[in-house]
Amino acid sequence: MNIKPFEKKLWLSSPTMHGEEAQYMMEAYETNWMSTVGKNIDVIEEEMASYIGMKYAVALSCGTASLHLATKLAGEKLYGMARPNQGTLQGKHVFASDVTFDASVNPVAYEDGEAVFIDTEYDSWNMSPEALEKAFEIYPDTKLVLVAHLYGTPAKMQEIREICAKHGALIIEDAAESLGAKYLLNGKWQETGSLGDYNCISFNGNKIITGSTGGMFLTDSKEDAEKVRKWSTQSREDAPWYQHEEIGYNYRMSNVIAGVVRGQIPHLKEHLDQKKAIYERYKEGLKDLPVKMNPYDPERTIPNFWLSCLLIDEDAMCRQVRDDHKALYVHEPGKSCPTEILETLAKYNAEGRPIWKPMHAQPIYVNHAFITAEGNGRGLSNAYIDTGKSVDVGTDLFNRGLCLPSDNKMTPEEQDIVIEIIKNCFI
Ligand SMILES: Cc1ncc(COP(=O)(O)O)c(C=O)c1O
Repeated sequence: MNIKPFEKKLWLSSPTMHGEEAQYMMEAYETNWMSTVGKNIDVIEEEMASYIGMKYAVALSCGTASLHLATKLAGEKLYGMARPNQGTLQGKHVFASDVTFDASVNPVAYEDGEAVFIDTEYDSWNMSPEALEKAFEIYPDTKLVLVAHLYGTPAKMQEIREICAKHGALIIEDAAESLGAKYLLNGKWQETGSLGDYNCISFNGNKIITGSTGGMFLTDSKEDAEKVRKWSTQSREDAPWYQHEEIGYNYRMSNVIAGVVRGQIPHLKEHLDQKKAIYERYKEGLKDLPVKMNPYDPERTIPNFWLSCLLIDEDAMCRQVRDDHKALYVHEPGKSCPTEILETLAKYNAEGRPIWKPMHAQPIYVNHAFITAEGNGRGLSNAYIDTGKSVDVGTDLFNRGLCLPSDNKMTPEEQDIVIEIIKNCFI
């Protein structure tokens, strides 16, 4: 293959700055609002609430902080206040997306709850409504569901919301990866970040817009917004000295970070367009290979195309085995595997990544329940009876899929080379 490695590394998804960010950061410096209060924070809370279509936004130090306080709010609402040294979800199950980043689900453990992982569906690579329905059959007392929109493609929120409403369960929406993605709910287009009872976004360095770090909690409830704001600033009571009646956190966003976010917001649309163009170029360039891009329903969703991914057809997978540190594959003409493609991309100085490893397979959560569309997703084989092929969509995506370089600064020419590299893996 006569291709030279990229001189400048092609990233999966790196920050893209425009200049205004530095200006607003400097404004914070020059006005001495080098704190967790200031104009940048006020402006971005207003702008993001208005963009997403929610009444209130609370700027926090990261998306994980937002998810934690959302989980705590939901826990208090459902089960009442907890003692300071205990979580609000003690002894409770929470249904959670399985193929997601662990920051989605860790807050359930922070609050002493137990996540039950719900298998993924092929249509959107998100929580399967069928598996969720099954989970309610098995754990009918569960009252909280955490849904993430993987790689910026909205989950089937219409179905998920209907199932949750039927069972009286609340929804925490993890829109960390999907800012700017839209979903047709009840015939009306809505932004992700407005589809749950508690909604969270992230401004992590790899996200579609960034503050280098940062996150937000979004709600229509004034009371919830005020509670999150209070908890995030150490739960200070109204007294002349530091007084506390509830456990507090130092989770508020810095006004300097808010300056970066403020400078990024006007460029969200531009980033969305760039990410979409990257997805479309991959789709066209890879159309003759036995692969499929991460799917979405064009009738009901407009993804933000944060990451472009591919899934190798089952019969085009060469043999591969992987453990945490090593991988082996046997190259076969017309076939390939994620290991071969990722290793080859790395050789040419381009960053890809495996599909997020399902939560039910993570060592930390391996003892937690996992529910598929067929029921209990663990212990599916039988030494004495041939039970046939078991369903575990998340593991299948993990085995056959990968994330492609999706940086919005990648040029079409560079992307064409990435496509060529991938094509060569199948020769
Ligand atoms: C799905 C998902 N949830 C939560 C988070 C956590 O956000 P943050 O890094 O801002 O804490 C991330 C990524 O970082 C994520 O991808």
